Amino acid sequence: MEKTYLVSEPIAAEMAYFRTLFRSALVGNNPLLNQVTEHILQKSGKMMRPMLVFLTAKLFGEVNEATYRAAVSLELLHNASLVHDDVVDDSDERRGQQSVNALFNNKVAVLSGDYLLATSLLQVAATSNLEIVRTVSQLGQDLSDGELLQLANVGNNQFAEEVYYEVIRKKTAVLFAACTKVGALSVGASEEDVERARLFGEYVGLCFQIRDDIFDYFDDNIGKPTGNDMKEGKLTLPVLHALNSTADTAAAQLALKVKHGEATTAEIAQLIEFSKCHGGIAYAEQQMHEIEKKACTLLATYPDSPVRQALYAYLLCVIHRVK
Ligand code: IPE
Ligand code: IPE
Ligand code: MG
Ligand code: MG
Repeated sequence: MEKTYLVSEPIAAEMAYFRTLFRSALVGNNPLLNQVTEHILQKSGKMMRPMLVFLTAKLFGEVNEATYRAAVSLELLHNASLVHDDVVDDSDERRGQQSVNALFNNKVAVLSGDYLLATSLLQVAATSNLEIVRTVSQLGQDLSDGELLQLANVGNNQFAEEVYYEVIRKKTAVLFAACTKVGALSVGASEEDVERARLFGEYVGLCFQIRDDIFDYFDDNIGKPTGNDMKEGKLTLPVLHALNSTADTAAAQLALKVKHGEATTAEIAQLIEFSKCHGGIAYAEQQMHEIEKKACTLLATYPDSPVRQALYAYLLCVIHRVK
């Protein structure tokens, strides 16, 4: 609780103004689209990405118009990717309510996701900063690249951790890296500071996705379905570690069934149990803490300030979050 306060306190005014900008970016004159955006705005999520944009901007300078526009752009792109992701993952729950594809249908979700993406680009254009525009455009490409890589990896017979890391870097960490990078760019930080900020964001994003993947092994109420990864043929860090460290042929056979979409619910439960029994969760947490250490080392290169403390607290929230 105290940590959440540490994160939000230095950017309370910025986040309040951000929320009005975000809402007004989504008002249009198409009735169907407005139904979708109203639904999205009803449960707007944790807003982790704009918070990171503002904190990073404040580490190097004063939040300005470009910072706000970039933050709106990135949160819109994040929302677009979630609306599309729930179609791709055939998932019916998001933020504790029905996903757009479940409430409407896949067609509406694909088209309104496109609209959100285009709106994100309009917002980034309003920064009038070509380097920020380039960063967000590159991000759009990387996110799709990551999702395609993950999809291509479903059908093959490999349990490589390197591929897992490449996927999570591209589908999740690049977005966090873009937040810290554009935050720094928007206030004219030096090239070296921009790169250090980008790397910090990447570490945060890797931790974020490893934590998210751990959620999938438990029946916890996080506002989206758990156990969905294996249903979709995806093997994440805990199970990959358990498989690679035990070389258990029966478990490997089971894992291949999962990858080919042929496993029953009971078999998935069995593989989840196997992962837990063989230290998969502990290993994933330990990997996350290794990345956390690198992120802390980077932060320690900046002078102490309430904003630097807030960034530490942000990292801790990502790692210890419960939803
Ligand atoms: C969900 O991100 C997508 C992942 C990278 C796992 P968040 O958990 O930040 O989503 P919201 O915006 O708070 O719902
Ligand atoms: C989240 O993908 C990252 C995106 C690019 C949307 P996931 O499919 O792993 O995330 P959740 O669990 O549905 O939020
Ligand atoms: Mg997905
Ligand atoms: Mg998903």
